[in-house]
Amino acid sequence: MRIVITGGAGFIGSALVRHLLGESGHEVHVLDKLTYASTLASLESVSDNPRYGFTQADICDAAAVKGVLERVDPDVIVHLAAESHVDRSIDGPGAFIETNVVGTYVLLQAARAHWENLPEPRRSGFRFHHVSTDEVFGALTDDGYFTEDTAYDPRSPYSASKAASDHLVRAWWHTYGLPITMTNCSNNYGPYHFPEKLIPLMIVKALAGEPLPVYGRGENVRDWLYVDDHARAIRAVFEQAAPGSTYNVGGRAERKNIEVVQGVCEALDRLRPRADAKPYAEQISFVTDRPGHDFRYAIDCRRIEQDLGWAQTETFESGLLKTVGWFLDNEDWWRTILERSYTGQRLGLKQP
Ligand code: NAD
Ligand code: TYD
Repeated sequence: MRIVITGGAGFIGSALVRHLLGESGHEVHVLDKLTYASTLASLESVSDNPRYGFTQADICDAAAVKGVLERVDPDVIVHLAAESHVDRSIDGPGAFIETNVVGTYVLLQAARAHWENLPEPRRSGFRFHHVSTDEVFGALTDDGYFTEDTAYDPRSPYSASKAASDHLVRAWWHTYGLPITMTNCSNNYGPYHFPEKLIPLMIVKALAGEPLPVYGRGENVRDWLYVDDHARAIRAVFEQAAPGSTYNVGGRAERKNIEVVQGVCEALDRLRPRADAKPYAEQISFVTDRPGHDFRYAIDCRRIEQDLGWAQTETFESGLLKTVGWFLDNEDWWRTILERSYTGQRLGLKQP
């Protein structure tokens, strides 16, 4: 199949591109604006692959999106392009509304025009797969899990914009019959993760000898999904799932933030001990909490396990060790980002 992947130069998108080119026969075309969060270095390993193509374009630009769909003539569109960082959405929500809401609308209209012109059987086989987040379901207390039927209750500008995009995608299925599928997943981590997010930020700050800023008391809970397991889940859904269906994807790995940061420190103690032989955990520092900080996210992912036979291959401990090892072996990748687009400063403190 020919697949257009929006946001393919980002963290999860590039993992999906590497997975599809490495382990399937699909052709892949990346459509990406190349914002601060992207880096083509994440796609360097596939750049010579004859089944790989790239266009720099904004999903809000209807003419550019139409041009890509006409040229590539895809069987599948996987939509990952988004503004993705909660703290940045607190500082500047406008870009989240533009890309996540308006951009998704523009892409849906272009996808619909493309799909309506496809001959059978390509028309019935076409899929628009939308990648979303568990954050659309709001925040949990100590108990319970998000299922596919949990009511939407987004709390941050980021999650509200993703919730809006999910509603648009479902509306294009119910109203126009566009054959969509959707996944809502928990917090991803792994290689090529942009160092504004918790795990990579802690790794690069620990190595720089800087304080490790844990928001509040570090009691908030996230469920951690290894990015390559997520890439396999996305593929399982767009290849096998019925149009209109939704799946939750999680890592069965709930951890308090403080446990995550301690895990990063322990992995570094093992793989790259500090010069003074003291534990990296000495660098942990509790800082002002995020405004409106969602307490807990936890995913019930039994539906994708039962329907599609998907399962995680990494435990949190094995995935974290791989991730820390990758950052130690690939300093050039993240040092370039620190020099070019983000130096690790605190984001998201402005009250809405
Ligand atoms: P990312 O920020 O690493 O990458 C986003 C990519 O989208 C970048 O390459 C960027 O250049 C591109 N992009 C942004 N605006 C664009 C626009 N207007 N037009 C075209 N391209 C644009 O994000 P990620 O972590 O890889 O997340 C990918 C998707 O998965 C997002 O939709 C996000 O909401 C969702 N998601 C992420 C997580 C997570 O833990 N990272 C969890 C759940 C869901
Ligand atoms: P993040 O990686 O930003 O993902 P999300 O907000 O989408 O869950 O943050 C994960 C958790 O870590 C979240 O509870 C906020 C917290 N956090 C810190 O404690 N310190 C930090 O420097 C960052 C970036 C996040």
